[in-house]
Amino acid sequence: MIKIAPSILSADFSNLEEQIQKIDKGGADLVHLDVMDGQFVPNITFGPPVIKNIRRVTDLPFDVHLMIDRPERYIKEFVDAGADIITVHQESTLHLHRTIQQIKSYGIKASVALNPSTPLETIKHVIDDLDMVLIMTVNPGFGGQSFIPQMKEKIKELRKWIDSKKLDIDIQVDGGIKLDNIKEVIDCGANVFVAGSAIFGTDNIIDTTKKFKSI
Ligand code: DX5
Ligand code: ZN
Repeated sequence: MIKIAPSILSADFSNLEEQIQKIDKGGADLVHLDVMDGQFVPNITFGPPVIKNIRRVTDLPFDVHLMIDRPERYIKEFVDAGADIITVHQESTLHLHRTIQQIKSYGIKASVALNPSTPLETIKHVIDDLDMVLIMTVNPGFGGQSFIPQMKEKIKELRKWIDSKKLDIDIQVDGGIKLDNIKEVIDCGANVFVAGSAIFGTDNIIDTTKKFKSI
């Protein structure tokens, strides 16, 4: 089953309530929330107070993608704000195993993201504990970048690995996903798709979300 997770990074922030209701109407499965600190990535977005405020406008699960240094300092704040899934970057936390356990201790889903240059091997010893792995298909920091084609091989390898271990883990991809390339990424074995500019950059957010869902 394919899940669509529109990223509000490309949404109109002066009208977040309406924008989120549109993806909800279009059949989105998750709301993808990109938190950036200007340290781990060269961009700053929003934090727990904004997430807490938009929590009341939808019942969709909140998929919080933390692009911040040492995310272990803020896990509780994001749980309290309403996160259902928290993704931390392998590159951002020294004690990854501990950070994953910390997320899980709140009864929510734990996920790890890998930058394009980070090998799959770096999560070999924690994968059994994960609910999702996020393969970054652009370098994190900005919406509207192009999908890095070398990531297809990485997704295929991860799919093989997860299947051979008979694990029940989602493979999420994030960056440069469009209506005209999603099919080939599905074929590589990913099942959760983040789309920012491809959804919020269009005139009809509801219809575009529906189109993604119908693939
Ligand atoms: C990038 C973010 C993405 C971003 C994707 O660092 O993690 O979630 O919103 O945007 P698009 O879909 O436009 O590449
Ligand atoms: Zn993201």
